[in-house]
Amino acid sequence: MTDNLQLNAEGKLKHFLTIEGLSKSLLTEILDTAESFAGMSEHQVKKVPLLRGKTIVNLFFENSTRTRTTFELAATRLSADVINMNIATSATSKGESLLDTIRNLEAMFVDMFVVRHAISGAAHFIAQQTAPHISVINAGDGQHAHPTQAMLDMFTIRQLKPDFSSLRVAIIGDILHSRVARSEIQALNTLGAAEVRVIAPKTLLPAHVESLGVSVSHNLTEGLKDIDVVMMLRLQKERMSSALLPSESEYFKCFGLTEEKLKIAKPDAIVMHPGPINRGVEIDSKVADGPQSVILKQVSNGIAVRMAVMAMAMQATAPAPGRFAAVHADRHADSLPASGIHTILGDKGVA
Ligand code: CP
Repeated sequence: MTDNLQLNAEGKLKHFLTIEGLSKSLLTEILDTAESFAGMSEHQVKKVPLLRGKTIVNLFFENSTRTRTTFELAATRLSADVINMNIATSATSKGESLLDTIRNLEAMFVDMFVVRHAISGAAHFIAQQTAPHISVINAGDGQHAHPTQAMLDMFTIRQLKPDFSSLRVAIIGDILHSRVARSEIQALNTLGAAEVRVIAPKTLLPAHVESLGVSVSHNLTEGLKDIDVVMMLRLQKERMSSALLPSESEYFKCFGLTEEKLKIAKPDAIVMHPGPINRGVEIDSKVADGPQSVILKQVSNGIAVRMAVMAMAMQATAPAPGRFAAVHADRHADSLPASGIHTILGDKGVA
């Protein structure tokens, strides 16, 4: 899905729905902006006023620990007001359509929706339907995309291995059902990684997977050779309509990452996982908690990257029209200077 809907007339990021179709310079701008925010978590005062007066609604139709919480923390640190919709107790359980839910929330003067949905394309659909002053961020849609996860992973990689052009990355496991894998592959290829290798049994790979710009291995021992970044994926049983594997223990024997298998990758290889991890299924605890694991670093980096995406998207949206224009224009003037995010953060950011 190539998506100019994501960009405003000046080519700035207005919605963040997918990595597909975004340029290397835009992805780099997200990473550089996140860098400005990264030091904030260690400060006594963890807030900047960039989104003061803005209202952000977290609309999670699927469960989440990391994404929902870090989006909320990121919005709070940008001084936005955040509403976490409880879908289980909302009127969707009484049959209200997604579009009617959106229309009603719009009527409450919302500025941004952060959306997770089991249906691929849900965030895209909402972005097409919302008013021009509202921004939509995809927090994971079906098997399609999870762009902020990809960007926080790129940020984590860049901190530890800054030269993407020499980077060999292996993505291991359930590629077929993984929105994370799709977004990671697009981000790595756009940022110029030397190789993206997928390692999985044939039943867990999409047809024509090579067309995504990857090399393919069905053997973990062979596939880990020369690898700098090992990305493990969870078996997404909730998306499997039929038995694609003999058993979890058989899967772990062939594709589970153990200390012994990790030694086949480069000695300084890092181990990543978007979470939630299933210990003893795709990864051994000694690796997940070991010295090469950056899994919790990924989680921490989610805050800075989501702050960057939200700040950039709000800066790229038009003020609200009609009788509310003055209110929104004031709010823009107060919170988002024309000269950009870095005016408030200063040249050295907030670190
Ligand atoms: N990585 C990720 O999306 O985790 P959650 O499902 O906990 O948000």
